[in-house]
Amino acid sequence: MPDQATLNHAAQVLVAISSDQRADTALRFYFEHHRYLQPPAKRAISHTVFVYFRWFSWLDQKASPQKRLEQAVELHDRFTADPKSVKPETLAVRAVPEWLWTEVDLPAEAKASYLRQLQRDPALWIRARPGQAAALAKSLFACEPTPLAPDALRFTGTQDLFKTEQFKTGEFEIQDLASQLVGVAAAPKPGETWWDACAGEGGKTLHLADLMQNKGVVWATDRNERRIDTLKRRAGRAKLFNYRSEFWDGGRQLPTKLKFDGILLDAPCSGVGTWQRNPHARWTTTPDDVRELAATQATLLSNLVGSLKPGGRLIYSVCTLTRSETTAVAAAFTADHPELEPLPLSTLNSQLPTLTLWPHELNANGMFVAAWRKKSA
Ligand SMILES: C[S@@+](CC[C@H](N)C(=O)[O-])C[C@H]1O[C@@H](n2cnc3c(N)ncnc32)[C@H](O)[C@@H]1O
Repeated sequence: MPDQATLNHAAQVLVAISSDQRADTALRFYFEHHRYLQPPAKRAISHTVFVYFRWFSWLDQKASPQKRLEQAVELHDRFTADPKSVKPETLAVRAVPEWLWTEVDLPAEAKASYLRQLQRDPALWIRARPGQAAALAKSLFACEPTPLAPDALRFTGTQDLFKTEQFKTGEFEIQDLASQLVGVAAAPKPGETWWDACAGEGGKTLHLADLMQNKGVVWATDRNERRIDTLKRRAGRAKLFNYRSEFWDGGRQLPTKLKFDGILLDAPCSGVGTWQRNPHARWTTTPDDVRELAATQATLLSNLVGSLKPGGRLIYSVCTLTRSETTAVAAAFTADHPELEPLPLSTLNSQLPTLTLWPHELNANGMFVAAWRKKSA
């Protein structure tokens, strides 16, 4: 059980969380107003709040916030000691909202593994600079490699990674394994010209630019200028200069007339694939969000597809698992664009042009990736 101070802070965060404020935003806001809290205390408070939302529908909603937090921690501890103590049928109706099963199909065994994964503490993944994972693991300690992505390491230590010399000098980025696999799927080559159309804070832009060995260029666009500012800071730390950032609101007016060797659309999505790390979203995301986002994804794809060179590759990724935003978007796009052909995701060791990356298979976020190539003639 966390100490009383942690429970008190977590209870105050719960009170601050309203239906339009996400748990991670509320936590950030709370820490900004409680600057004396040290990183270990902040980690304990965040953990307690996330545990609360993972076990939310088991809790007695009439009890005080303190009492509910204690109930959630007890459930979490019992589950951690014996994950099979909670039946998959119970998890299926309590760990996620009912509407999820209209959007996600999984065989019984995989469904049980998926649901158990959602109730665990998430793993922390970092991305080393290309070819530097072994050296970084030696200097950081507590890092485990994975055969799935050459530069990915799972960090199992307790130190504050942001305070390490290796982070400050750009030797690694904190990036989930599933996100790293999107870069592996894109596999840009040095000297190519890429467009990262929804670049956000640049997680994938930096990966693409790094894989291109600082040669060629990645156009990084987003409609949120604040995110682009963060991207620039991160690129500076990583000493990556082969990118260019521009505003693009996703509309028909494109940021450039250039044609690209590759385009990555890491589209806005419902984020169902992040429900282990961000459990509050299980209770705030709705089927209407899924419908609206699926329409946005289709629009973004059709607005940018004309910017591909003949032979150019298009990668679509979303950190969600709903049918409407994944296979349905990809199938409709393939049908509407005969000038493109689906492209097997060979760098992910797949013969198929679409792939769902499941949290229980990766010990990471869930993600969907699809690839096409523009025909040459
Ligand atoms: C999934 S996030 C991108 C994450 C980023 N690629 C990364 O790896 O860090 C989606 C991004 O799309 C942007 N976005 C949302 N709606 C958009 C729209 N209609 N047109 C263009 N960008 C949009 C958001 O500002 C957000 O940064």
